[in-house]
Amino acid sequence: MPTATTADNTSSTDTAAARADALTKTYGSGDTKVTALDNVSVSFAAGEFTAIMGPSGSGKSTLMHCMAGLDTPTSGSAWLGTTDLASLKVKELTKTRRDRLGFIFQSFNLVPTLTAEENITLPTDIAGRKVDRAWFDEVTGRLGLTDRLSHRPAELSGGQQQRVACARALVSRPEIIFGDEPTGNLDSNSSAEVLAILRASVDRDGQTVVIVTHDAKAAAYADRILFLADGRIVEELRQPSVESILSVMSRIEEL
Ligand SMILES: Nc1ncnc2c1ncn2[C@@H]1O[C@H](COP(=O)(O)OP(=O)(O)OP(=O)(O)O)[C@@H](O)[C@H]1O
Ligand SMILES: [Mg+2]
Repeated sequence: MPTATTADNTSSTDTAAARADALTKTYGSGDTKVTALDNVSVSFAAGEFTAIMGPSGSGKSTLMHCMAGLDTPTSGSAWLGTTDLASLKVKELTKTRRDRLGFIFQSFNLVPTLTAEENITLPTDIAGRKVDRAWFDEVTGRLGLTDRLSHRPAELSGGQQQRVACARALVSRPEIIFGDEPTGNLDSNSSAEVLAILRASVDRDGQTVVIVTHDAKAAAYADRILFLADGRIVEELRQPSVESILSVMSRIEEL
């Protein structure tokens, strides 16, 4: 993929919901230096569902965090639509994240003192918008959370906390949802519900979804799969099947 510069205005640049341009992230220095991302350029088209796969430590979370403005790259840039995240002041970045992005964290990141319901509506409440009650009821009902809404995170199982984290990202209907292993702690029924809701939010509402997963069955819900190894994109699949995913995964693990 050609590396776009900031002056470049190609149509793919215009339609991308999010884009990384030569993104590199290193941690530490000298002997302990780790290159978590190595010159990654990628665009996520609006209205597309992408899954990111790859071995543990290959840079998946780092890529998502840099693209969502939760971490800053060592070099290169991350764009949300036509906004270069590095050009934003701290307050503007916070507002952009809140208004335009939903993020499902690998470690849930729920607020311990708030109930499940308060956690789910928090981004909408902070943005000063009205919660769409019908959509809230549908999402929490489908995720089996209806009778858990008044509980605090410590009173919920790991899978329930993960479903609350998914509901929180879905209820505010952001332009783009990033999910870092959003189904990693879920049984197959809950996992299928989360993936079906994400799929429908792309097909019905034109949202853009990017998830990290280790599960070929989950990844098969996506339109496109990117495979990372050692901080680089090494393979890409479109309209993936479970078989094609498993075959690429076994090839990459041999690298
Ligand atoms: N804060 C940090 N300090 C130093 N190294 C880090 C830091 N965060 C991540 N790394 C390193 O960067 C590399 C990529 O980490 P990352 O969390 O992106 O991997 P991942 O693909 O999400 O893995 P997993 O599937 O285990 O979640 C790893 O080698 C990791 O140890
Ligand atoms: Mg990770």
